Parts: sequence; C-alpha cells; structure tokens
Amino acid sequence: MSILDVKVIQDYIRMCNDGWLQGWHERNGGNLTYRMKPEEVEECRPYFQKPGPWIDMGVSGINLAGEYFITTGSGKFFRNVILDPEHSIGIVEINDRADSWRIVWGLEGNAKPTSEFPSHFMNHSVRSKVTNGKCRVIYHAHPPNLIAMTYILPLSAREFTRALWKSATECPVVFPDGVGVVPWMVPGGTEIARATSQVMEKYDVAVWAHHGLFCSGPDFDTTFGLMHTVEKSAQIYNLVMSSGQGRVRQTITDDNLRAIAEEFGVTLNEEFFGEPEID
Ligand code: 13P
Ligand code: ZN
Repeated sequence: MSILDVKVIQDYIRMCNDGWLQGWHERNGGNLTYRMKPEEVEECRPYFQKPGPWIDMGVSGINLAGEYFITTGSGKFFRNVILDPEHSIGIVEINDRADSWRIVWGLEGNAKPTSEFPSHFMNHSVRSKVTNGKCRVIYHAHPPNLIAMTYILPLSAREFTRALWKSATECPVVFPDGVGVVPWMVPGGTEIARATSQVMEKYDVAVWAHHGLFCSGPDFDTTFGLMHTVEKSAQIYNLVMSSGQGRVRQTITDDNLRAIAEEFGVTLNEEFFGEPEID
C-alpha cells in the first residue's frame, strides 16, 4: 500500500490528467485544490511525513480552521502529476486561526502549494459557507476559448452569462446562477483572491479576464464537468462569431431559456433576462 492507492488521491490525479488532456494546462498553467473529508484524511494519515513549518497565507477563513487540502504545487506541470505525484502535488493542513498552512505530505523537493492558494482558500471559505459545506473542489484552468471571449465581450456577469447560456442548450441547466467576471488583475496574490471570493459568493464560476476560469463544486466530476461545459460553450460562441463574421441569424431566445428552466426544474438568475434579441 502507498498513499497513491488511496481513492481520493487517485481521483485527484485523474482530474489533473484529464485537464492536461483537454489542453487547459500549458506548462504550469492552472491549479486544483480539494478539501478532504475527515475519513479521507484518516486514510492518508499513515503516509503523512513530519509536518513542515506553518506558512502565513495573507488571508484567512475561519470556517476552514483545521481542514486538510490536496493541492497542486506552484510551478508544477499538470502533465507531470500522473508521472510524479510526490513532487507535483501535496497535502496541506490549515492551522486553528485559519491563516496558515503546513505541508504534511508530498510537494517533495522544497515545492510549495500553488501561488493561487490564497484565491483557492478564500473561494473554499465562501463556497463552503453558501453551500452548507457541500463545496469541496476549486479548479483553475486556462481554457483557450473562454479566455478569447474576454477580449471581445464587455466584462460583466450579464454579458458572459447570456452569451454562454445561449451558445449551448444545456448550459442554463449546468450553471443556472450564471457566471461572474473578475476584471484583469495581477495573479497570485491576496487582492485577486478577495475579488474572486466576492464573485464566488453569488456564482460557482468566476471568469478571470485574459487569464482563465475558476470553477467550484461538490466533487471532481461535477467541477470538471462545469469547466468542460463552460469551455465548450465558449468554443461554440467563438465558432459562431468567427464563421458568421459577427452576424447571428438565430439564437436561443429568452423564452427558450425559460422553457428549458421549467422542463429541467432549475431557477435561472432573472437578472440576466430582458436584453433585446438579435435580429
Ligand atoms: P502555479 O504554478 O503557482 O499554480 O500558477 C499557475 C497559474 O495558473 C497562475 O494563475
Ligand atoms: Zn492561471
């Protein structure tokens, strides 16, 4: 037995590799964190090493005191996670004040958690609160079609939500609350972490202009599926805009959206209705 035989570690590694295979993780692009269940911590504990020092995060989230997270390492390549997990990923414990982490497994060779750990941590704090503890996964990727959209659409939740909902029929069912947008900011710090977590109070998806996407969810499949759905819709949007040279002959109407919501039993965010239809 090794920690690599534990199911949650295998599932985490599979998700990293699936993201790599999609082309969303050039070089060290993107990062993934998972808030472990108590029983998963106990399954992994026999393999924990002597803990490293506590490192201040610059942010805090008291509802996450004492939690354990699996995280990708800063500067580590998603394509290497499956080949060399011990150097590419690790487990960190959060202290009682919920403002510092320490490494308890992995991240060998002096590696550190992702530079976006403050954003992940604050997003976990907020999403855990608004989902009554259901949210466990925060996933950041660099999907190219979604990034391309941030150069041509106004950077608002309304514009992005409507464009994505109307580019593939099942999108409103997958993200009925819509998507939030964070304007361009310097990545890797506490400022972008705070801005993203504010957006994540309302949405489980946050666009980072000219950079990428953050998705959150209760498990690996749902969160990966959310990223995949948003990116595929963005791809269709870009195909339509480029092949039609900006002209759209017909689209999914607001009434169509309402009909989908009724059929699938979801409540769509009403803020995003009411724009004149394209003729
Ligand atoms: P890390 O290698 O530190 O995870 O950074 C990658 C990234 O995508 C930054 O936004
Ligand atoms: Zn990034």
